[in-house]
Amino acid sequence: MIVSLIEKLRQRHTLNVDEYKALLLSQDAEALKYLQEQAQEVTIEVFGNQVFIRGLIEITNRCRNNCYYCGIRKGNQAVVRYELTQEEILACCRKGYALGFRTFVLQGGETPDVKDDRIVGIVSAIRREFPDCAITLSLGEKSRETYERLFQAGANRYLLRHETHNEEHYRRLHPSGMSLRKRLQCLEWLKEIGYQTGTGIMVGSPGQSIDHLMEDILFIEQFHPEMIGIGPFIPHHDTPFATCSPGSVEMTLKLLSIFRLMHPKVLLPSTTALSTLLPDGRERGILAGANVVMPNLSPREQRENYTLYDNKASLGAEAAEGLQLLEEKLAAIGYRISKERGDYGSG
Ligand code: 5AD
Repeated sequence: MIVSLIEKLRQRHTLNVDEYKALLLSQDAEALKYLQEQAQEVTIEVFGNQVFIRGLIEITNRCRNNCYYCGIRKGNQAVVRYELTQEEILACCRKGYALGFRTFVLQGGETPDVKDDRIVGIVSAIRREFPDCAITLSLGEKSRETYERLFQAGANRYLLRHETHNEEHYRRLHPSGMSLRKRLQCLEWLKEIGYQTGTGIMVGSPGQSIDHLMEDILFIEQFHPEMIGIGPFIPHHDTPFATCSPGSVEMTLKLLSIFRLMHPKVLLPSTTALSTLLPDGRERGILAGANVVMPNLSPREQRENYTLYDNKASLGAEAAEGLQLLEEKLAAIGYRISKERGDYGSG
């Protein structure tokens, strides 16, 4: 029964609500193995055995928001705050370029609007020095005008997870002052402006139900993002969710496979959170249909200050300087690193 749903999803890229739900609830190990195999086959059809790499630069851990799950929330007084200078960011890009990275992801907490000019300047400088590279931003909610200016300055892609598509659940994860409506509005703007747009969720965030995941699947199906970020929730000790349990690795892998079958060409990272929970998490993600990894290119001495969750991996194969190790780990499962830019639709 489940097997026929998987086949249907592969052929038609969509299921009805009851069918998605049956798949999400299924514990049938054989069927889930089949799901992963199908997703892996589709990934290889589209991208071959190549995995795209993105150099992640965590430009600041200052944040105006107070999301209950996040270690760099404004209310966490224990964090030593930093903000990389333009020169420091360019130095990361140079290091990354020499290693073979052709996409730089600038990620950071949400800074006040007065800092927008500074970010536009940084994007322009990267664009000038690295005309052949893609620039991805992951800097949260901004005004439409700022998104436009960043795009004009040379940014190509934007990651903004919706976190959950259920209003009530959104409020459980975020203090008042943040709203799902605003988040979805930002995603619409990003798409309209022309960014390759990414959204996504944490799997197993506190209060998340199967019905919430269903809503996320239906939203993603309708929004059709170019990138989907899916990782397990992991508690951080200095947040209100300190004592909550981490999300399920199995459910994360299942969702990766479902999204691959729904949307064969989507850029789907095997996330750091997955590698943090499981020593071979990255490889498991790739075998479930992911085709992107995002090694950390941030300055070594700042990585420990960018802890969104406890024990966040940033060394070894999760580090840009560990590319050789990453290469070996991927080779062991039959994959290799692609040094192409890896835009959406180029696979
Ligand atoms: N566990 C897992 N992922 C987290 N993120 C933030 N905090 C956590 C956590 N505790 C994710 C959010 C955000 C992305 C940058 O990191 O989904 O969008």
